[in-house]
Amino acid sequence: MQPIRMVDLITQYQKIKPEVDTAIAEVMNQAAFINGPEVKAFQTELEDYLQVKHVIPCANGTDALQVAMMALDLQPGDEVITATFTYVATAEVIALLKLTPVLVDVDPETFLIDPAAIEAAITPKTKAIVPVHLFGQCANMDEIMRIAKAHNLFVIEDTAQAIGATYTFADGNTAKAGTIGTIGATSFFPSKNLGCFGDGGAIFTQDDDLAAKMRMIVNHGQSKQYYHDSIGVNSRLDSIQAAILRIKLRQLDDYNVSRQSAAAAYDKAFGEHPKLRIPARAANSTHVFHQYTLKVKGADRDGLRAYLADRDIPSMIYYPVALHMQSAYASDRYGKGAFPVTENLVEEVISLPMHTELTPDQIEYIINSVLEFINQ
Ligand SMILES: Cc1ncc(COP(=O)(O)O)c(C=O)c1O
Repeated sequence: MQPIRMVDLITQYQKIKPEVDTAIAEVMNQAAFINGPEVKAFQTELEDYLQVKHVIPCANGTDALQVAMMALDLQPGDEVITATFTYVATAEVIALLKLTPVLVDVDPETFLIDPAAIEAAITPKTKAIVPVHLFGQCANMDEIMRIAKAHNLFVIEDTAQAIGATYTFADGNTAKAGTIGTIGATSFFPSKNLGCFGDGGAIFTQDDDLAAKMRMIVNHGQSKQYYHDSIGVNSRLDSIQAAILRIKLRQLDDYNVSRQSAAAAYDKAFGEHPKLRIPARAANSTHVFHQYTLKVKGADRDGLRAYLADRDIPSMIYYPVALHMQSAYASDRYGKGAFPVTENLVEEVISLPMHTELTPDQIEYIINSVLEFINQ
């Protein structure tokens, strides 16, 4: 059996190596490293895939969130609501722009931001909501868009973990994750469902004016070379990364199906176990399993991790500390006990190996090892 990895980018690369190596060599032969034709082609292909009017490639997912917030002209002190159970980048850019992150709790079963908690956190200073499509499925966008409309708020979807997921609205219409709110932001970090071979990211919007503004912001705020109309940043996707992403975008749906079939095997093995809770599916979203995250109930979660590690099975705790308990994001607004769901989740969750290359014998070995520990 091949060694089990949390994410197996080595085997994945081997399968597309000839195509990728040729594409990289082609960029080097052209020496069009920045804003070359590959970036433009990737942009158009991603717009087609997502059925969104504008994709703005940028340097990483954190920048994507930051540029989105810069384009909305939010002012220092404006409040932006997001989940306390997420990766730090979501809140980091809010704080960096001198906006006020207002953290709220999540649903205990889906791990997704709780719309009722969003509504309860709205004040006259609230300007935006950042739902995080955590672990690969969409937050309740019907509710979030209803709340945003009622209170005149922007919605920035953090879809770093859910590219390719499909949301079905209450009226039956569908849309890809990241194309529903005012702006969507994603990451192409190597381990993401659509990952490049370094850092990368992109911003999506259906709004022509916002798109034009964000294209300027990612390129030093310039409308034409050396004419700077706004304060911007340097956040560009390299041509080599774009060339790789074009190849991997063609595989994305198959990659997500591979993740879903590994998840189905895990579900089947753990679904009925009294000490394990499989990840609940959100009502209106497909799940593309960026992570497969179990909750361990009435058994030693950290003991399970150690047991798996002894058997050369990696696992991760996403996330070990809620954002409101991190020193950088501590606030008088909320101390320990403020968000009981998340505070409980950080003690219970464990993410198992999840990627596109898991083999049936690896999955069986992981399942048997988990059950050996839990049943002992
Ligand atoms: C939910 C979430 N938001 C934002 C980011 C930031 O993306 P990046 O690492 O590309 O800056 C990540 C990924 O790391 C993430 O998981």
